[in-house]
Amino acid sequence: MEAVEPTDDEQRPAFSGYDYSNFYYGAGDDVLNLLAPFREWYKEARPAGYYLYAEAMSSAPTTHVRVRNGKTGREQDLLNLASYNYLGISYRPEVKEAAIKAIERYGLGASGSPILSGTFDIHIELADAIAHFKDKPAAILFPTGYSANVGFISAMMRPGDTILLDQYAHASVVDGAILAKAKTVFFRHNNPLDLERKLSGVKGKKLVVVEGVYSMDGDVCALPELLEVTRRHGARVLIDEAHSTFLFGPNGRGVAEHFGLDQEIDFHLGTFSKSLGGQGGFVCGRRDLIDYVSGFGRSRFFSCNLAPVIAAGLLAGLRILEREPQLRAKLWSNVAYLRRRFAEEDVDIGKSTSQVMPVMVNNDAKVFAIAEKIQDRGLYLQPVTYPAVPKHRSRLRVSVSAAHTEADLEQAVGVIAGVLREEGICR
Ligand SMILES: Cc1ncc(COP(=O)(O)O)c(C=O)c1O
Repeated sequence: MEAVEPTDDEQRPAFSGYDYSNFYYGAGDDVLNLLAPFREWYKEARPAGYYLYAEAMSSAPTTHVRVRNGKTGREQDLLNLASYNYLGISYRPEVKEAAIKAIERYGLGASGSPILSGTFDIHIELADAIAHFKDKPAAILFPTGYSANVGFISAMMRPGDTILLDQYAHASVVDGAILAKAKTVFFRHNNPLDLERKLSGVKGKKLVVVEGVYSMDGDVCALPELLEVTRRHGARVLIDEAHSTFLFGPNGRGVAEHFGLDQEIDFHLGTFSKSLGGQGGFVCGRRDLIDYVSGFGRSRFFSCNLAPVIAAGLLAGLRILEREPQLRAKLWSNVAYLRRRFAEEDVDIGKSTSQVMPVMVNNDAKVFAIAEKIQDRGLYLQPVTYPAVPKHRSRLRVSVSAAHTEADLEQAVGVIAGVLREEGICR
């Protein structure tokens, strides 16, 4: 069927001030009608800065990457401050070797759902290894961190139950709540008083979901205070440690361990896509919980299992982590160094206390031009704007890795502070 142009001109947005979130509409009865106003906007949005997203890399996500510039199409060698490879593990020779061996043994994919023909010995080994690492009775794997949240939350919560989410909850947490069809209530970010208010008077099953490190601000969950409120109201707690497992705590188990509350939390969720640089999500907890979720987590049950090659690489990565706790120490010394240098140069990184550092621009119109200038001067990092963050809180997101050298960090500070100064964002 031919797409028809929308007839209602008043509904058609102009470029200025709009973004992806403005296109969830379309006049008329044809589904494809929403493409016409989108196309019009996209023609202007790309040259205005949106080409900075999804620029293709043609090298491993190490500290230095080869990137095809979205505007010019030319390849550039850039210092990488954008990948989640916080420990520089995914490209280590031991990891690559394990993955190559797994390919030779298993071929490419799992070719089946984990509950049918898609479970291999290596999946069981990985689930046992992550449960052991997290010091929990059992673990269950999901194809991604996203599907772990969607599958776990919707397996546990039903219509009539209440899910309480931090206002900055990741989209996968929100989508899990949508699929659960439970009542969803947002509480103010990291705010125990507001959680208390929102929990008061709520009857029935209650689940509070928090994150170890919030991915857009890099701040750490106020876990002791939030947990105290949660316990008093008889709610259960899920902590999503996507950006904190393998990094925080004396053994790297995450923010819950960092606060000495690891055994107090009911459900622990994490992802292999960040600090291990692989793919896949997991939930750890009591044995009967894991058995239950294996039958009710729809995003796992109705999806192909994690590729065995990935599972093999992750196992090798976990062994490196256990052997080399100094990687975590190096990450934290890099984080401390960069924080200090940003402060000296008057670069605002908001409330970050972790390896995720938002360089605050707070100017939605300027952020793309600033990101382009920074890329032209040799750094790879991305602008983040609404709807990923609130309006007028746009930023450039910096991810620190244990693999960065002091010279890398100095280069980053020099370029970022230089450009922000030229643009009047910092002194
Ligand atoms: C807090 C949080 N949870 C879950 C996810 C999804 O993880 P994955 O990318 O492994 O699907 C992310 C990804 O950015 C995240 O930040």
